[in-house]
Amino acid sequence: MDIRYNILKLLRQKRDFVSGEEIGDILDISRAAVWKHIDRLKKEGYKIESVKNRGYKLYGEPDIVNEAEITEGLNTAFIGSSVVCLLSVDSTNNKAKELAEAGAADGTVVFAEKQTMGKGRRGRAWSHEAGKAIAVSLILKPDIVPENAPKITLIMGLAVCKTLREQCGADAKIKWPNDIIINGKKVCGILTEMTTEDEYIKYVICGAGINVGQESFPEELERLATSVYIETGRSFLRKDIIKTLLKNFEDYYMNFISNKNFMEFIEAYKKYCINIGRPIRAIYENKEVRGTGIDVNSSGELIMLDENGNEITLRSGEVSVRGVYE
Ligand code: BTN
Repeated sequence: MDIRYNILKLLRQKRDFVSGEEIGDILDISRAAVWKHIDRLKKEGYKIESVKNRGYKLYGEPDIVNEAEITEGLNTAFIGSSVVCLLSVDSTNNKAKELAEAGAADGTVVFAEKQTMGKGRRGRAWSHEAGKAIAVSLILKPDIVPENAPKITLIMGLAVCKTLREQCGADAKIKWPNDIIINGKKVCGILTEMTTEDEYIKYVICGAGINVGQESFPEELERLATSVYIETGRSFLRKDIIKTLLKNFEDYYMNFISNKNFMEFIEAYKKYCINIGRPIRAIYENKEVRGTGIDVNSSGELIMLDENGNEITLRSGEVSVRGVYE
């Protein structure tokens, strides 16, 4: 694995032909060994041109997500210091919890191609086509009071939104508190789970499911769900989205942990929050209330003005926005 990925790294850096001899010299292996590794890479889907007397040139990459691909060039301080990639798991959040219980480090990332029992919010299921989506969970051990943990969900929400906007050119927005939507349909959901001990946070698992390459959805989901591919018409390598996401998340998270002004974060969040200035419907104290979203406060709560002109502070929960999937 390592040598193959070192060869890939070299080919990526050069962006041109590199001779077998040069690769062999740099990695201290024979030309025959270089050829064998290149052959395996080709079989894995890497597009490598081989030309006699010139060597090898990389001109295309498959949508493979593994530890080596995520960590290469990952520009973070601690998120992703350890990465676990699985082909199939019940839920990446469950796996992350199991690893956290076994002592996994702060910032550990768990990714899976397929989830057999992916979890959504409010006990719902979260399913996705294997190989087309991102299912990723982070293990975090923040030194904050449990009441502040929901802010991590907002941080992940803005990090996903920023990543899809910048990396994919998608018009991503946030439906408070943490659904990412494009053109009124959901492209990403986030589930944050916390384990406490003696009123302290033992760890927080923050999981995001992002629809990336799906070309269509089953009929029952068509009206509600979308993917980056459907909205942009372009294909993206999931590893690139993950790397940018981890960096964006870490930037916001580190600011938050070091107790910087959270209002600065909220201002950035509000820029993309579709609930503000729009008619909304919410469940408040077990009753349905209608009104308009007017603000997100420094605690990350949504403030709405109901039909009688009363301000209502929504701490969490389901909020419907007209024109957006319900
Ligand atoms: C929602 O209901 O909107 C939240 C969906 C969260 C899904 C992600 S996929 C990765 C992580 N693992 C899970 O089991 N759930 C989250």
